[in-house]
Amino acid sequence: MKNLNGKKILLIICGGIAAYKSLEIIRLLRKNGSSVKTILTKNAKNFITPLSVTSLSQEKVYTDLFNSDNESEMDHISLSRWSDLILIAPATANALSKISYGLSDDLASTVIFASDKKIFIAPAMNVRMWEHQSNKENLKKLIDFGHEIIGPEIGEMACGEYGMGKMSEPKTVINHINDYFKKLENNKKFKALVTAGPTHEYIDPVRFISNKSSGKQGYEIARSLYENGFDTTLISGPTNLNKIKGVNLIKVKSADEMLEATLNSLPTDVAIFSAAVADFKVKNKEKEKIKKEKISEISLERNTDILRHVSNHNSLRPKLVIGFAAETNSLKNNSLKKLSEKNCDWIIANDISKSDIGFESDFNKVSIFYKNNSEENLPKMRKSNLANKIVNRIISQLN
Ligand code: CTP
Repeated sequence: MKNLNGKKILLIICGGIAAYKSLEIIRLLRKNGSSVKTILTKNAKNFITPLSVTSLSQEKVYTDLFNSDNESEMDHISLSRWSDLILIAPATANALSKISYGLSDDLASTVIFASDKKIFIAPAMNVRMWEHQSNKENLKKLIDFGHEIIGPEIGEMACGEYGMGKMSEPKTVINHINDYFKKLENNKKFKALVTAGPTHEYIDPVRFISNKSSGKQGYEIARSLYENGFDTTLISGPTNLNKIKGVNLIKVKSADEMLEATLNSLPTDVAIFSAAVADFKVKNKEKEKIKKEKISEISLERNTDILRHVSNHNSLRPKLVIGFAAETNSLKNNSLKKLSEKNCDWIIANDISKSDIGFESDFNKVSIFYKNNSEENLPKMRKSNLANKIVNRIISQLN
């Protein structure tokens, strides 16, 4: 497990009988070259002692939200920033519920809330709790947030019952984490380009033609690519979204600027064209603000189709070109037409006639049409989760 060497793992141990397994996790992580800092929840201390954790990790154990040793140090921020990854093992039903609602009433939950790191969760609970509708809803939310769930497994429980809910064995947990770092290392060789957001086509210095795109789906794809190790460039039209840490952001306004920035950013291994590029620009853009009496009609001319231009480019075409299709009707026919006419490898199509998905929403429901005639219809999900699913498919394809 050489990918664990030199990694910094923040382990959060919650109060469940499986807490004894976390001691073995610390031992295995350290044996494979990782540094481990640990947070024990109040209830975890009923199952294992801070002394045994310190002895194995060779680090101070953190338990309290307010640090009385060093008042200027905010552990909930510094611990998360220190780590390469956060592992919650065992994660109790209560912990899953708190994370899914963003509660932060102790150090462990506050660290998770304030975290900017990948979070792995190894649940452990009684089978009835695992199968409870409320736990299922919490889990769904956590997966939507982009957290990775390890296990649980089926087996005999400490309470004597049998079923799903046993925490995965320490070796399985460690393997998952090792595979994650291996994937990051492997993907470092890949370059990705994403276009996102609308474009503004100016009529005069203050007026423009645009569309309803928020850019959220493209930003989420760029975030997921970066989190999976890709060298990622995001070319974004005007949006209200924040810059994503680690992603090379190029801001543009018009379709012409987006085209130029795209060509300057190639070659890449994969390009995802999620931007809602205006199909037309204004023919004779005025330098001064036009007086309303003088506006009678606006002449338009076609913008270059950036996706089509790139996917037909002899030398600059990425190995994998992915287009989007926003449709209000005949989703499949229109998407298949775009797939072939724009010469792309996949088209990700969303039905924008529904107001709760697509434009501006945090949710999306798409179908993916592949060049080899296959198609996938994905259920409605958070854009962040969809982005992870798209990126997983990109990784499989590039490998
Ligand atoms: N696209 C592009 N450059 C353009 C127009 C579209 O790169 N000038 C890309 C979009 O980023 C998207 C795909 O083409 O990946 C499809 O965009 P869409 O607006 O759905 O289709 P259009 O080709 O514009 O056709 P129509 O508006 O007629 O549906």
